[in-house]
Amino acid sequence: MTNYSALAKGGLTRIRPYQAGKPIEEVQRELGIKEVIKLASNENPFGMSPKALEAAKKSIEDGHFYPDSNGFYLKQKLFEKWEYDPNTITLGAGSNELINLLFQAFVGDDCNVVIPEYSFVVYSMEATVSGAMVKNIPLKNWVADLDAVYEAIDENTRVVAFANPSNPIGTAIETKALYEFLKKVPKSTLVVIDEAYNEFNADKDDYLDTASWMGEFENLVISRTFSKAYGLAGLRIGYMLTNPEIASLLNRLRAPFNVNLVALAAACAALDDEEHLKVVVENNTCERARYQAFCQKHNLFMIPSCANFVAIDFKEYDAQSIADKLLHRGIIVRPLLGYKLQDILRISIGTKEQNDKLFAALDDILTENK
Ligand SMILES: Cc1ncc(COP(=O)(O)O)c(C=O)c1O
Repeated sequence: MTNYSALAKGGLTRIRPYQAGKPIEEVQRELGIKEVIKLASNENPFGMSPKALEAAKKSIEDGHFYPDSNGFYLKQKLFEKWEYDPNTITLGAGSNELINLLFQAFVGDDCNVVIPEYSFVVYSMEATVSGAMVKNIPLKNWVADLDAVYEAIDENTRVVAFANPSNPIGTAIETKALYEFLKKVPKSTLVVIDEAYNEFNADKDDYLDTASWMGEFENLVISRTFSKAYGLAGLRIGYMLTNPEIASLLNRLRAPFNVNLVALAAACAALDDEEHLKVVVENNTCERARYQAFCQKHNLFMIPSCANFVAIDFKEYDAQSIADKLLHRGIIVRPLLGYKLQDILRISIGTKEQNDKLFAALDDILTENK
């Protein structure tokens, strides 16, 4: 038989398939549980805005047409709302696709990529497939160590990638420190700030809007998504802000109709519904504090989160067995074994009712395991 793995690009066999959170139907089917709560993929527990849903439903009527390849109305909306220049925007089927495109366009086996430890797994997957060397930089108190990242940059560093807030651990780099970092980085190194969870972090007093730096740093790449705070994960839509030259390259590389028309319509309407976004973010902030209090009560360490999930260290308890027990009670959470954080579970923050159920289940399990 032909060895197709040997024919594939060098790096492909070195990456592990992406491990997504268990789907609700799978748990219902396999464990025979009717009511399942998924707190494993950092989705929006309130769903999308009713306005987005209405727009999505209506757009299906035009499903026999190809979508607008340039996403004119969405780019226009982003311009009206935040003055993002349409020439700096690339739209993607989720921000994951945009990260993929950026690496395809710029990263090859003659360069390296600098990534803080425990970053979103897709950066190292993309770098490895491209044949680039990955430099993983240890964190300082669970936050990216910008000095160490800067030290690791050399003339072959094509990309530095930060998720801010980060996934799977949820910490954020102070935006002021990022600004100072950007001033020092050579312009041939692209600095990706992946802001998938930005909306859950932007309520801080000292928060700076990174998009306002676009004119100042030509190597700045900002990636955003509608999957999290806007609740459109299943529709797959995100955008990337870059200088116009990079945007033009990415737009050449992407498939002409990479973003479907339902996603485009829903994203436009979602941006209009500021009230829904406010409810989502306020619930998250309030419930995140309850997770912190729960951990204090049980003497567990919760990594300080700026996102819509928390990472909790279950120390002497066996984190995997806690995840299994929660699953048998119909609650899906995410062990971080794949990140070599075997004592830690990542739990997406749900609605108050969902979190109450999780706290009650964990109370029982932790008492049993004592
Ligand atoms: C940090 C980060 N970036 C990007 C993504 C990709 O999101 P999407 O492709 O749904 O926009 C995720 C998804 O979990 C993420 O955690």
